[in-house]
This record gives sequence, C-alpha cells and structure tokens, in this order.
Amino acid sequence: MSGPRIAILISGTGSNMEAIISACRHGSLEAETAIVISDNPDAIGLKKAQLQGIKTLAVTYGRGISREENEAPILEVLRAERVEWVVLAGFMKILTAEFIRAFPNRIVNIHPSLLPAFPGAHAIRDVLEAAADITGVTVHIVDEYVDHGPIIAQEEVPILPGDTEEILAARIHAVEHILYPRTLQQLFHDDI
Ligand code: GRF
Repeated sequence: MSGPRIAILISGTGSNMEAIISACRHGSLEAETAIVISDNPDAIGLKKAQLQGIKTLAVTYGRGISREENEAPILEVLRAERVEWVVLAGFMKILTAEFIRAFPNRIVNIHPSLLPAFPGAHAIRDVLEAAADITGVTVHIVDEYVDHGPIIAQEEVPILPGDTEEILAARIHAVEHILYPRTLQQLFHDDI
C-alpha cells in the first residue's frame, strides 16, 4: 500500500476511526493504519479496531505521574511502529508540548464546531446552549494550544429546530466521516 503509516488515537466510540480505516481499505485514503491507541482500555473503538485486525494499545494514564511520563509509552510505540502521522479521533487527553514537538505539524485533529468558535470538550452542547443556527466540523493541525492550530478543512452543519444533542451529534458525525478521510488524503498527498 502506498501512503504514510498512521496512528489513530481514540478515547471512545471510534466512529471516525472506523471511517478512516474503511477509507484506507477501499483505497480512497492512501495510508496504512499501523496502530490504534486509546487512553481508555474500555473504549469500544479498540474492539472495533481489533476486529479489523489492526494492532491496538491501551495506555492508562496514572494520576501521580506527569503528563510526559504518561505519554512516554505512546511515543515509544509510535517510534517502534515508524508512525509518520498522528491522527486524533476523539482522543480526550491534552498532548504535551514535548509530544507535539516529537511530531511537528504531523498531528491532526477533528473538532465538532467551526473553530475558533466553541473549542473544548462539549462543543455540541455549547453550540445548542448558545442558540446558534449554524455549526460545523473543523480539521486542523495540532499545535500547543487546545483545539487550536492551522485549519485545513471546515464544513458547515445546520442546526435545525428541535435539535437535541444526540440529533445534532449524529448530523455532525455524518459530515465528519466523509470530511476527515478526504482531508487526510489531501494532506498526506500534498493536495492542500
Ligand atoms: C467527534 O465528534 C470528534 O469531532 C471529536 O470527538 C468525537 C469522536 O467521535 N473530537 P468518535 O469516537 O469518532 O465516534
């Protein structure tokens, strides 16, 4: 297969991870998923990746040790697996500056809002509470600030009357599952 070796970092359901793995399988995304890593050993996404025959690693963050020390096993495996790009897909831990410096401009994230609007872990809830009528999805390169860094793709998603968090999340996810693999293909193959 042509294309870079990637690691996908997740914490939960892993629906974006599935979309990326599927795009790799079908050839619309020329990349190879070397490993899926989660900070949550119970993440459903880990099981989904294993069923696809993809190597996985669960790294439980300890409380009494530094974030750098918690990240060390992740960095170690990324190096051992010769990973070239780190793809965050619902990974809920904030990466340290040291980690980001290990993959300069090679970490990508997807966020469920039109950044810089509504950063943070509850973007969908926050946008509904703000009574906005439009939101969206952002794909960006990760820098040392949370939900920040050069934006490489954005797509709007309407907010409709009667939307609940679940309904809006489903509409956002549907957009993410197309936008993320497509943007990664452009990014990895110098089309952005
Ligand atoms: C997505 O909405 C993504 O934008 C955000 O976390 C969610 C992950 O969902 N960063 P999933 O685990 O890919 O289903």
